[in-house]
Amino acid sequence: MIVSLEKISKSFGGNQVLREVNLGVEKGEIVSIIGQSGAGKTTLLRMINWLEKPDSGEITVDGEKVTASPLYRFGAKKADIQRLRSKSSMVFQHYNLFKNKTALQNVTESLITVKKINRAEADEKGMELLRSVGLENKAGEYPSRLSGGQQQRIGIARALAVDPRVMLFDEPTSALDPEWIAEVLEVIKRIAAGGMTMILVSHELRFVNDVASRVVFLDGGTIIEDGKPEQIFNHPVQERTRAFLLKSRDYNLVW
Ligand SMILES: Nc1ncnc2c1ncn2[C@@H]1O[C@H](COP(=O)(O)OP(=O)(O)OP(=O)(O)O)[C@@H](O)[C@H]1O
Ligand SMILES: [Mg+2]
Repeated sequence: MIVSLEKISKSFGGNQVLREVNLGVEKGEIVSIIGQSGAGKTTLLRMINWLEKPDSGEITVDGEKVTASPLYRFGAKKADIQRLRSKSSMVFQHYNLFKNKTALQNVTESLITVKKINRAEADEKGMELLRSVGLENKAGEYPSRLSGGQQQRIGIARALAVDPRVMLFDEPTSALDPEWIAEVLEVIKRIAAGGMTMILVSHELRFVNDVASRVVFLDGGTIIEDGKPEQIFNHPVQERTRAFLLKSRDYNLVW
């Protein structure tokens, strides 16, 4: 198991969002978390690199285990959080590129500041990463001159730069104009085909069906259904899963 969440709970004020959630992910799996708006998908995903701290429970990524404790301001020792964070990389809905840096500089930033790699080597690796998302010809371009799809692909290259063991995606296409979605999905699929472990939150059920090896449905603070896309989408066991699917536009278009 490369990722393991054990008994993860989280409340915001009086609103309990997650209730003792358990989730294990094997190396190479592409797990998609689906569920209604407000179900806690983003909260759960962000916990995997401790951007959000659980109230209680345990998170392990590639052997780095962190147990939530109220004794610490950030929920655990900083050094433990750092080690956990080094294992995964997040791609956000809004790509948040540095506007005053070129595509290449955006990708190499963490290599130079975090990994302390010298610029020549960082540039070489950065170009390789830009190639992997099909944008080596945009290395010197600033984000304002790139399309939304291209900016998101730079965001993906940047996330790959730190050699994560696990990639975390939070609705990587939902802020994009429809015409840019396909190219971003293509890049994600290519990375998935390379064997990367991925956990992906998405409302795009067609894409989920296409790329995920496993789908989990989060509802009422817990995972109530977990299986292969074929099973979840064609033979959901839970009534609530069925109701969720029937409300989805994608689902009605395809199934
Ligand atoms: N920082 C916060 N402070 C207070 N409440 C929060 C905070 N972050 C999330 N919440 C609440 O927790 C619940 C789950 O939010 P979350 O963003 O994880 O849902 P989601 O499943 O990702 O929804 P969506 O599909 O709309 O992105 C919501 O009720 C939300 O309002
Ligand atoms: Mg969300």
